[in-house]
Amino acid sequence: MEDTVRMLYLSRSDVAAVGGEHSDLYVGALRDGLIAHARGETVQPLKPYLRTDGPGGHIADRIIAMPAHVGEPGMSGIKWIGSKHDNPTREGKERASALIVLNDPATKYPVAVMEGSLISAWRTAGVTCLAARHLAVSGFTDVSLVGCGLIGSTQATALLQQFDHITTVHLYDVNQDAANALSERIMREHPNVKAVVAGSAEDAVGQGDLVVPCTVTDKPYITFSWLKRGALLCNVSIMDVHKDVFLGADKVVVDDWEQSNREKKIINQLVLEGSFSREQLHAELGEILAGERPGRDNDDEIIVLNPMGMAVEDIACAGEVYRRAAESGTGTWLSLY
Ligand SMILES: NC(=O)c1ccc[n+]([C@@H]2O[C@H](COP(=O)([O-])OP(=O)(O)OC[C@H]3O[C@@H](n4cnc5c(N)ncnc54)[C@H](O)[C@@H]3O)[C@@H](O)[C@H]2O)c1
Repeated sequence: MEDTVRMLYLSRSDVAAVGGEHSDLYVGALRDGLIAHARGETVQPLKPYLRTDGPGGHIADRIIAMPAHVGEPGMSGIKWIGSKHDNPTREGKERASALIVLNDPATKYPVAVMEGSLISAWRTAGVTCLAARHLAVSGFTDVSLVGCGLIGSTQATALLQQFDHITTVHLYDVNQDAANALSERIMREHPNVKAVVAGSAEDAVGQGDLVVPCTVTDKPYITFSWLKRGALLCNVSIMDVHKDVFLGADKVVVDDWEQSNREKKIINQLVLEGSFSREQLHAELGEILAGERPGRDNDDEIIVLNPMGMAVEDIACAGEVYRRAAESGTGTWLSLY
């Protein structure tokens, strides 16, 4: 009996070995997971934030518990993700660290524990890729990234893997070394792509068909007038955009309305002030992927996606990693007892 109670441990290199460092795994698993979410085939309690530094603490210093169940092919689990904004500068470590625990939906027993921040970064980029396919101008050429840390860098890699029509990546970071390093890497790995370090955030944002802020700021700086007509803004780091961006956009899309309308994030502030509501929301992303709501209608629309980041995404992707690892004999089986 005891021998059968076991779970698979996957380190980051195990996750990478089964395709966890390529956007294809994520784009496929996310499409299924987000459509399941739109169809009500997921369970996703609101995520609690564990903050221990008092009211003056940095917005990016927290540990978040993110549980979810995805109905098809059937997986439950939780991502437990820590974040400390100055880990990169003070500790030389990535900002975020995470474990994902997967549970068998039938017995509720844990079946896997895996390193989770690789999956987290890539699934975030995968959501942008899916959004770009449905909400960006077709054949878009210019991508603007503000914030060139791990998340910005993964977004660049995934977008360049998925869209060979990208010709130019505009980069801005308050730390110019970070922007320069990403620019050099992009041009080394993609000799046909120009990666230009912009002189300001406004300069970068204004040139993007697809604009992706990936900073750790809590002070909005992107205003609606910076965006060019036809832009898609994927608001990955959530607090970068002024309220007028949501109010001026032709379409506002979220991953999940309940998750977006809380914690005093910008959408929640607008709702509390009475200037935005569920009725003004164009769609949740899964509804667009499922064909239940339209994506982009013309090349002039300015569209904003507010991707809070969902446990459903993590569990859908981790489930795919687990299935591939179990099938290929990757990782280490551990006895639970
Ligand atoms: N929405 C989601 O699903 C999701 C998922 C994962 C991470 N995130 C968010 O992505 C963000 C980036 O994470 P990371 O791990 O890359 O962090 P990081 O610390 O590695 O990188 C952040 C970069 O942003 C730069 N920066 C900070 N403030 C800036 C500003 N005002 N203007 C320009 N550059 C600025 C920093 O110099 C740094 O290079 C975090 O806010 C995180 O919460 C969102």
